[in-house]
Amino acid sequence: MREFIYYSKSAVTSGNLIKDDLMKAGRMDIVCNVILSAFFTSNTMRMDVKFHLIFDGPPNAPQHLILESNEKMPISKKNIAGLIKRMLYKSPNKEGLLEIFPGASIERKSFEKVTKDLDKEGKNVLLLDGKGIDVRDSKLKGNEVFIIGDHEGFPKDKKKFLKKIDKISVGPKILFASQVITILHNEVDRQE
Ligand SMILES: C[S@@+](CC[C@H](N)C(=O)[O-])C[C@H]1O[C@@H](n2cnc3c(N)ncnc32)[C@H](O)[C@@H]1O
Repeated sequence: MREFIYYSKSAVTSGNLIKDDLMKAGRMDIVCNVILSAFFTSNTMRMDVKFHLIFDGPPNAPQHLILESNEKMPISKKNIAGLIKRMLYKSPNKEGLLEIFPGASIERKSFEKVTKDLDKEGKNVLLLDGKGIDVRDSKLKGNEVFIIGDHEGFPKDKKKFLKKIDKISVGPKILFASQVITILHNEVDRQE
């Protein structure tokens, strides 16, 4: 399983705020690109991906959306924003994870809690960062969770929280999050 946490301070947390201009929805356009890179190759869907999205924008933050490869998941390359919108509409007010579609769930949970819970499960949590250890020099075990930021990276409080987490790099340049995911998948494909 290839597992990711994508954090966005600005991504909106209400389905009503996702309209035609995805840039105005706290850069939901970037979220769509990231999901495209995480789940799709040219002609097929990767069947070993679990993707956590943490949206910390207005008005109902935090929202934790989980997408997990599944043949029945109604994800289409052309309407990723539509899927997210439908998930946000159904976000529960009370505690607990709600499955909206096969492979697509949502809950109110913070970035810190999601990260700590995955760590407690024994996962190898790593922060994607240009200054980290080169992915080509690291032996991945297959239980990694890769944390990645949006166009702004991480705000101060999140950076502080992430200080103790090991960093891993896919190369010397600062890349778009979607590019990082494509390269990382490629590196892991090669290691496998
Ligand atoms: C567009 S970058 C963020 C740029 C932001 N201005 C900053 O400096 O943090 C989006 C995310 O991609 C990841 N990233 C970018 N370049 C990387 C690299 N060379 N190796 C690993 N991760 C990278 C980081 O997690 C970053 O938060």
